Amino acid sequence: MNFSSLAALVLCAGKGTRMKSEKRAKVLHPLLGRPMGWYPIARALEVGASNVVVVVGHQSEEVKQVLAQAFSTHCLSFALQDEQNGTGHAVACADEALKEFRGAVLILCGDVPLITAQTLKPLIEAYCSTPGPLALLSFRPADPTGYGRIVREGGHAKKIVEHKDATPAEREITEVNAGIYLADAQFLFKAVKTLSPKNAQGELYLTDIVALAKDVAVVEANAEEIAGINDRAQLAALAKVLQHRINQSHLAAGVSMASPETTFIDEGVVIGADTVIGPMVSIADGSQIGKDVRIGQGCVITRSVVGDGVELKPYSVLEEAHVGGKSIIGPFSRLRPGTELAEGVHLGNFVETKKAKIGKGSKANHLAYLGDTVIGEGTNVGAGVITCNYDGVNKHLTTIGDRVFVGTDSQLVAPVTLGNDVFVAAGTTVTDDVPAGALALSRATQVIKEGWVERRRKVLDGMKKK
Ligand code: UD1
Ligand code: CA
Repeated sequence: MNFSSLAALVLCAGKGTRMKSEKRAKVLHPLLGRPMGWYPIARALEVGASNVVVVVGHQSEEVKQVLAQAFSTHCLSFALQDEQNGTGHAVACADEALKEFRGAVLILCGDVPLITAQTLKPLIEAYCSTPGPLALLSFRPADPTGYGRIVREGGHAKKIVEHKDATPAEREITEVNAGIYLADAQFLFKAVKTLSPKNAQGELYLTDIVALAKDVAVVEANAEEIAGINDRAQLAALAKVLQHRINQSHLAAGVSMASPETTFIDEGVVIGADTVIGPMVSIADGSQIGKDVRIGQGCVITRSVVGDGVELKPYSVLEEAHVGGKSIIGPFSRLRPGTELAEGVHLGNFVETKKAKIGKGSKANHLAYLGDTVIGEGTNVGAGVITCNYDGVNKHLTTIGDRVFVGTDSQLVAPVTLGNDVFVAAGTTVTDDVPAGALALSRATQVIKEGWVERRRKVLDGMKKK
């Protein structure tokens, strides 16, 4: 078989009753930043499927929308299974979508997300090297209850018996069906049309095609990868396995972690070599971290890009932010969407930015709010400076030039522009544009009253005596 003739079917129509969800189909529950159903589809593409059909049923519109968006650069097609009459029926529903297709069909389940390409490859090899139209994965779980048992005769797989239909002797069989198959398309769609619902669950079982194939190749797989998700406890358990797998791959690629068991890195996050990650850090949703970055304890990074050599001090929170190389951020900085920092920017404790473009080497080291602002290079923003960007109705822009000094505790009432080399005195409320090189000063002149405290005390004492 060559790879151009590989299609995949991912079964995602089931409701997932045991998830006890009021709003979400099972395959859309998130698993380290991706919907559960994303994983088997990604693995099918990874082993070379040129054509992926997702069988949807329960909450089909939402499932279609989320998965199509997640794979926007690939062409997924969807087959609708209106009523969930079993796995065999689900495959039959994809007949139309694959009617022109000739070759092998890889069948995966939307709720078995940990399968890897390394495990699928021996299945493909077994299919290619045997004459029969069907190969499948088996495994030996600690407890086989609930799984379909592989019944062998003279070593050959003859049929699969579902747990509910099995005799006591068949229930003793420890080798079970993983629910992952590779089948010749013509054999498959012909076979599923002959299935009967005469069984304990009154469903059309895909597993019944095993008895219809003359020669079935069975490949035993690692139980950890085949585990399915039926409830929230299994979702949490598999998230842990996946977390370990992702962290190991970053460690192997030259990333250090103080505490891999408390480090949460989503599938698809990119991290450069020599980056060092402290404990209790989350890096989510397609974030890209450069080389030699230091990420302190408790940082939370979502949909952000962090350049080489950056230092993120503890407990900084980045959301849709771009941080230029060698910048120093935090501790306790909050970078909100639209933050774009050039190289070597310093943002210190309790600095909040939003839609803020800050030029090379500029600094805001303490307690500032910089929203809807463009700041030039080499500018220093003092402690407690606020851009007053919102007038209760609209947001307005504050533009600050290069080498500007914005004194401590100043307010910049937008829209307002400060030219290059401006100096704003501490405590100034800037309401009008300031031309380049000028000083802006708005505070009231200081008054000194000598001996005032002593006089006041006497007045207060006199009042007490009365
Ligand atoms: C199935 C196998 C069983 C195997 C087990 C491995 C059958 C009859 N049994 O059992 O031998 O040991 O998987 O996990 O196939 N689905 C649909 N439409 C349906 C029914 C199911 O799309 O009408 C989808 C589900 O969403 C799920 C997958 O098919 O992703 C498996 O269905 P499920 O009901 O979980 O099958 P099991 O009873 O676990
Ligand atoms: Ca299942």
